[in-house]
Amino acid sequence: MTCEQRGRNLAEWAVRGGRSAYLAPSILAADFARLGEQVAQAAEAGAEVLHIDIMDGHFVPNLSMGPAIVQSLRGGSPMLFDVHLMISRPAKYIETFAKAGADHITVHVESEGNMAELIEQIHSLGCTAGLTLRPGTPVESLFPYLPMVEMALVMTVEPGFGGQSYMASQLPKVVALKQWAAQHGHPLHIEVDGGIKANNAGQVTAAGADILVAGSSVFNPKTPVKEAVAALQTAIAAAPLNS
Ligand code: DX5
Ligand code: ZN
Repeated sequence: MTCEQRGRNLAEWAVRGGRSAYLAPSILAADFARLGEQVAQAAEAGAEVLHIDIMDGHFVPNLSMGPAIVQSLRGGSPMLFDVHLMISRPAKYIETFAKAGADHITVHVESEGNMAELIEQIHSLGCTAGLTLRPGTPVESLFPYLPMVEMALVMTVEPGFGGQSYMASQLPKVVALKQWAAQHGHPLHIEVDGGIKANNAGQVTAAGADILVAGSSVFNPKTPVKEAVAALQTAIAAAPLNS
C-alpha cells in the first residue's frame, strides 16, 4: 500500500492536527528489543509524528534500519511516519519505503540524483516530500526546490548518529527558511533534527520550526517515555510563536 492508498500525508495531517508545532520522536534512540512498546508509549503520551532514520553506511558512516521495521511498526499505528533518508541513492528506495508505510519522505540535497525528479517520485506515490541538508551545506542550496516540497529539514547535528550535541549555529537556516516561505507565500513546514531537548525546544520553535525531532531526549533509560514526551511538549507549547 502506498501513501496515496492510505490517503494521508504531512499536508493533510497538519491541517487535521491543528497544532502550531509537533514533536517527532526518533526511534533511532529506542530500545529495539522493545520498539513496538516504546512507540506505543510515545503515541499514548501525545506524540503524533514518528521520525524514522534510514542510514546506509555510505551516505553516513552508520547503519540503522530498513523497510521491514517501517512495515512492522505501520500495523495499526495512528502516527504520521516521517522517513528521513540518509542514503546515497534515494531513487532506488523511495517506492519501497512508501509501500512499507511512510507518509512523508525527506531526502538530502547532497545525495545522488536529480532533486526535482526525486521530489516528483515521492509525490507520485502520494507522500509529502521534504528536503534536508548537512550542517556544512548552505541553506541557499535548498531554495530552487522549496516551491516543490511540503517540508524543509534543518539538521542541527552531523547526520549519522543520535545523542550528539545541538548546534545552535544552524538556527539562522530556520529563520531563512521561514522568511523564504513568507516571501513566497508557500506553506512550508520546517523541521529541526539533532540534539533537541526540553531546554532548546523553545528556541527552535520560536525561530520558526514546527516539527521537532527528538531521539535520545524521548527514548532513554533515565526517563519514562511518557514523562519525556510531556516535558518536550510543554517546552514547545510555551515558546512564543513565529508566525
Ligand atoms: C541523526 C538523525 C536524528 C537522530 C536524532 O542522523 O537524523 O534523527 O535520531 O537523535 P538525537 O535527538 O538523540 O540527537
Ligand atoms: Zn533524522
